[in-house]
Amino acid sequence: MTVMETVAGSRTSRESRRRHYLMCPPTYFSVTYAINPWMDPDVPVNHELAGIQWDVLRHTYQSLGHTVDLIEPELDLPDMVFAANGGLVVGGRAYSAKFRYEQRQAESRAYRNWLERAEITAVEPIETNEGEGDFLTLGSMVFAGSGFRTSIAAHIEAADAIDRPVVSLELVDPRFYHLDTCLAVLDDGNGPAPAEIAYYPAAFSRHSQRTLRDLFPNAIICSEYDALVLGLNAVSDGHNVVLPSAAIGFGEQLRARNYNPVPVNLGELLKSGGSVKCCTLELHA
Ligand code: ARG
Repeated sequence: MTVMETVAGSRTSRESRRRHYLMCPPTYFSVTYAINPWMDPDVPVNHELAGIQWDVLRHTYQSLGHTVDLIEPELDLPDMVFAANGGLVVGGRAYSAKFRYEQRQAESRAYRNWLERAEITAVEPIETNEGEGDFLTLGSMVFAGSGFRTSIAAHIEAADAIDRPVVSLELVDPRFYHLDTCLAVLDDGNGPAPAEIAYYPAAFSRHSQRTLRDLFPNAIICSEYDALVLGLNAVSDGHNVVLPSAAIGFGEQLRARNYNPVPVNLGELLKSGGSVKCCTLELHA
């Protein structure tokens, strides 16, 4: 796609690139166990509303010109809607997920089968990792989160599987248990503009904050308020940034850098600790 937007008074133009996403319908979505601090099985989920919110997300991607493939949801896998966790796919190579908690472990096979049918050969992991929940690609490298779900050993295994350098980042706040809850790739640097990220510093250890500062001194720093509505759990195509609608301040920060914020409300999925990015596995070209 060649949508180019140059905003008067600014020199950075943004260009969206057509993306390929995999999503899983929330047919069996529910909060029946608690494996992160957002989840409370006593708080009811409105299943019909969850379905509507998820549909809006899917249509949003399609109306932006992106391809959305679907994986068949499975009974007894209420978190399978969070497709980002299904693996890491970059340049025709894939690294399969191996979930930390028993409740989600059967999802690995389901996602690996899908990849196989799509003729993407996935390396089967020995180490625990939760796919794009903890692996975010930009430029030629991959940012990898550890601390709650994905192990450091998996970072090394992933680097080998997809043949990319990996930068490890340590997460320290259990509310931000996956890297994609506290860091968003806004521009992957594979188009005309340089790579750009947004993040919430307090979710990272002191040395990882320093890594991020050194690599991205001009990153957008997200407020605590916006981080706590999972504002950073966003999906960017280089120009349009689909993000949780409650993250109003973050939307303004994006606009100031010439991105086009596209707010969606995934309030029902937030009850499980997930939002836009969690529902989206990008099959990176
Ligand atoms: N309830 C799910 C879990 O705790 C949410 C997963 C969110 N996914 C993500 N990519 N952050 O595993």
